[in-house]
Amino acid sequence: MADSLDRCFSEATINGLTLRNRLIKAATFEGKSPGGVPSEGLLSFHERIGEGGIGMTTLAYCAAESDGRIHEDMMYMHEGIRPELQRFIRTVQATGAKVSGQLGHCGAFTKNEEFSGARPLGPSKGLNALGVTHGLSRIAEMTKAQIRERTQVIGRAAAFMKSVGFDAIEIHFGHGYGISQFISPKTNKRKDEYAGSLENRMRFALEVLSEVRSQVGDDYPLLGKISMTDGVPGGVSYDDSVEIAAMLEEGGVDVIICSGGTSSMNPMLLFRGDSMVPGLIKHEKSRLMKIGIRLAAPFMFKDYPYEEIYFLEQARRIRDRVQCGVCYIGGVCTNDSIRTVMDAGFEFIQLGRALIFDPDFPKHARGRSNYKNGCSHCNQCATLIEAPGGIYCVERPANFS
Ligand SMILES: Cc1cc2nc3c(=O)[nH]c(=O)nc-3n(C[C@H](O)[C@H](O)[C@H](O)COP(=O)(O)O)c2cc1C
Ligand code: SF4
Repeated sequence: MADSLDRCFSEATINGLTLRNRLIKAATFEGKSPGGVPSEGLLSFHERIGEGGIGMTTLAYCAAESDGRIHEDMMYMHEGIRPELQRFIRTVQATGAKVSGQLGHCGAFTKNEEFSGARPLGPSKGLNALGVTHGLSRIAEMTKAQIRERTQVIGRAAAFMKSVGFDAIEIHFGHGYGISQFISPKTNKRKDEYAGSLENRMRFALEVLSEVRSQVGDDYPLLGKISMTDGVPGGVSYDDSVEIAAMLEEGGVDVIICSGGTSSMNPMLLFRGDSMVPGLIKHEKSRLMKIGIRLAAPFMFKDYPYEEIYFLEQARRIRDRVQCGVCYIGGVCTNDSIRTVMDAGFEFIQLGRALIFDPDFPKHARGRSNYKNGCSHCNQCATLIEAPGGIYCVERPANFS
């Protein structure tokens, strides 16, 4: 086995937490929490990933509050699901994997039928196309009191997650969700100290990080997932993201995960491969939304053919800028890619689709020097997140059964 593969399969620590190797299951919302309750299917999915040898798995999209959910079949952090979460965590930990939870808030990007307010809250007024068929199309600008409240809500959710037993928390700072709506000049048009310069647009993110840190303590592992670019004119740029990473490091994050793109404006930037449009139209329940997706497709769903390690060049800039841990994500499907990423000095690698295709990826990659994962990047799994039963690999449907 080459040295860099050895490094990938060696133990590594994040702020005192030891992982058996450097491979982490990326947050991939599995669509297996109907009514907001983690199901047996969700548990067995992650247990299977744990059995495949992953260092740590990530439970995707643990919303900070009910109104922080994109839709009502997502979990939010509250006492009502403590027993299910505890069982989930204990079961997955029994496989030898650690368990992280992705702490998120959708901000104004929502179609949640259980939304309690009159309008979704964002940094500025605007249109929420996702909510058009749910009466949630008009975004209200958050007052400063509401910003402070969201910060506290996210902090309380982090304290809850730690108390439930998550080994680590991954704060979602990217992909066009609540916090990144403040970071992006495309969606943040406020006139106060939360807008304008990058320092100002990062204010909410850093307040959240500080609140979360104070709730979980200095010796608890915190990861942060960022978008290195929004991938739209007038949005966050790759240059910005190098400074964003430095600010998060200064704010106390232990590991930065370098993703890109946004679910709301340019999803294909993160899902490189085949277009999701046909699948999204097929699985969308609302006829109006089907038409909407078709009309928006040429602007929103751009063509990004799959390449291995497609974020490497930009993520390397962040690796070179910060001292904290950096996790590579995006198109790792072969041992050659693992070697390249390890040689570039990254501490961790997150795997998304490759694990949905082959939950035994870590075992297989460790056992064969030339392992190649067979995921075709058809992106069909990503179109199934709201389908009954949630996601699976259409090329290997029996993987998790
Ligand atoms: C089915 C599916 C669901 C996803 N859900 C999330 C999510 O909830 N949160 C998130 O940050 N990223 C999500 N992603 C993006 C992945 O975390 C990752 O950034 C992307 O798949 C690229 O990595 P890969 O090439 O290893 O698949 C999802 C991806 C897939 C395929
Ligand atoms: S459905 Fe399977 S082959 Fe297609 S992208 Fe998802 S994991 Fe890969």
